[in-house]
Amino acid sequence: KRHLISAADLSRDDAVLILDTAEELARIADRPIKKLPTLRGRTVVNLFYEDSTRTRISFEAAAKRLSADVINFSAKGSSVSKGESLKDTALTLEAMGADAVVIRHHDSGAPHRLATSGWINGSVVNAGDGTHEHPTQALLDAFTMRRHLEPGTGGGLDGRRITVVGDILHSRVARSNVLLLHTLGAQVTLVAPPTLVPVGVATWPCEVSYDLDTVLPKSDAVMMLRVQRERMNAAFFPTEREYARRYGLDGDRMARMPEHALVMHPGPMNRGMEITAEVADSPRCTAVEQVANGVSIRMAVLYLLLGGASPGEAPAAGTST
Ligand code: CP
Repeated sequence: KRHLISAADLSRDDAVLILDTAEELARIADRPIKKLPTLRGRTVVNLFYEDSTRTRISFEAAAKRLSADVINFSAKGSSVSKGESLKDTALTLEAMGADAVVIRHHDSGAPHRLATSGWINGSVVNAGDGTHEHPTQALLDAFTMRRHLEPGTGGGLDGRRITVVGDILHSRVARSNVLLLHTLGAQVTLVAPPTLVPVGVATWPCEVSYDLDTVLPKSDAVMMLRVQRERMNAAFFPTEREYARRYGLDGDRMARMPEHALVMHPGPMNRGMEITAEVADSPRCTAVEQVANGVSIRMAVLYLLLGGASPGEAPAAGTST
């Protein structure tokens, strides 16, 4: 495959290959020599039209650990603010020899447009587009779940019950997770206020519940989503207190989960809204581990898309950090 635009692009074999490659790369990166020569001479452009902390930094870390050259482009402070189009920006990046463009954009469909436009020849990786998809987030989430729930198996997440809670309507993370987790054999239940469930959810491969307390005891992992107020009409939103009371995860609710079950959050968190500080800082919460796993997943995606040298190869002289 040349691009990664949607979790739906991935067959089960594709997804397992990415997870297994990320495991291999994480094992190598745990050794004292952290930098691999696999993408030396390649250029990865981080093209970010929307704010990001975790995704942008981890794609940069991933590309650098594979010895690629990295160009960070933020729409803020660029000629985008003078009205330059995505097409002209893409042509500029192509002229600079981008082998891969990692794009985050406020418009759903922008990565697809870039991949199919002919404006660039390199690979396109969707780093989050509008309310559509965030496939590498879903991959790092599945990687984290597999490590905890199916350690050492190297397969999928067959039969595991995953609950995704909160602002599904605006969540590209939820959509990508539903698609990927279904592909990996898990059963997904979405829990949200009725106003924050997308109209087309009946076509998604998952169940929907409005009662968090009945779903928690049957969950192997509970993923809390950020309430995306910046994408929301205030009229659709219950009060903060009402939201936290019905859909927030606090210590009492966490105690209803099975002992082995994970608490997950893609970040950034609204502490006190969808998750209390007590839960966010508890050992059961994998939010920080998800960030670390994101580097391994993004290394695997770049490595597989750009067809680098074998990740098991010893680094050449001068490449260690
Ligand atoms: N989870 C996630 O995409 O975080 P950022 O917006 O900080 O990249």
